Amino acid sequence: MKYYDDINLFYRNKTSGEILLYKSAGMNFRDERLKEKTYTGDLYIRQQDKGLCLSKVQKGFSSHLDETMHEGNARVKQELINIIDETLQEPRSGGLEVLPDTMEIIVDSYSRQPDVIKNLAKISHTDYTTTIHSLNVMALTVGYCFYTKRSFEETVRYGLTALFHDIGKTEIPREILIAPRQLTEYEFEQMKRHTVLGAEILQANDPSVHPCIDGALEHHEKLDGRGYPYGKRSISEIGQILAIIDSYEAITNDDRLYRTSMDPMDALRLLKEEVDSGRMNRQIFEDFAYSLTDFAGGRSSSHITRIAGIEALTG
Ligand SMILES: [Fe+2]
Ligand SMILES: [Fe+2]
Repeated sequence: MKYYDDINLFYRNKTSGEILLYKSAGMNFRDERLKEKTYTGDLYIRQQDKGLCLSKVQKGFSSHLDETMHEGNARVKQELINIIDETLQEPRSGGLEVLPDTMEIIVDSYSRQPDVIKNLAKISHTDYTTTIHSLNVMALTVGYCFYTKRSFEETVRYGLTALFHDIGKTEIPREILIAPRQLTEYEFEQMKRHTVLGAEILQANDPSVHPCIDGALEHHEKLDGRGYPYGKRSISEIGQILAIIDSYEAITNDDRLYRTSMDPMDALRLLKEEVDSGRMNRQIFEDFAYSLTDFAGGRSSSHITRIAGIEALTG
């Protein structure tokens, strides 16, 4: 409730139906004057306060996340889903600027508590959405950046780009996004637009998210020029990293009703075919495959099998 301290809140009078001021900006819910005026119905805000409100809520989530990360609490994933869900619902209202701070908290925590990020990458097979997918691509990208020893700044930037790579999907009709079948040619053309739309959304937002534009635009481009939206052969590094991590995440998860998810080794085998046919970057693929064994952690027998399998794929 403290998020609404600086915002005017309104309520609807039950008898007249009129919208009246409930609490003015600057007054808080702990205020004695409000306690006398308890109201149990819905409260409203003005349209123009929506952006401010969203940003306040997210700042609140962010500081909460910081505490949760330090405690090593298992609720971290849920906190993140809340932040990202709120943002993805209204990406054009300017709320994205809060997420760079969130990403700093995540990357900072990774070095101290790698388990936090490992847990993030463990997928819930039941509530699969663009939010969960984006979160997983982010966690895998941060893991890749640590494996390849990127600087803190680059890890934050690439992690944030991963989080936003599919933000354009918020503008694609829901029937297409959740179609439980292969898309028609027309629908697929529509779907492809999420790249360009994503770049536009980021461009229209705070400058702090502008470095993420290349990744949103290029994560479906292929080195042989047969990707989309432009069929480019010269692709930014983050575009090439995301092409691999995004595909890996999508095929190892139960996101679509018309097919089942693939085992990680089979998914890597499939991606290796892309690498061998000159569509994806070999070095990035190999580093990513090894970064996954880092994720697996420990010295369990499955860890050793996985590494042995990956050596066969990368050697
Ligand atoms: Fe995408
Ligand atoms: Fe994606």
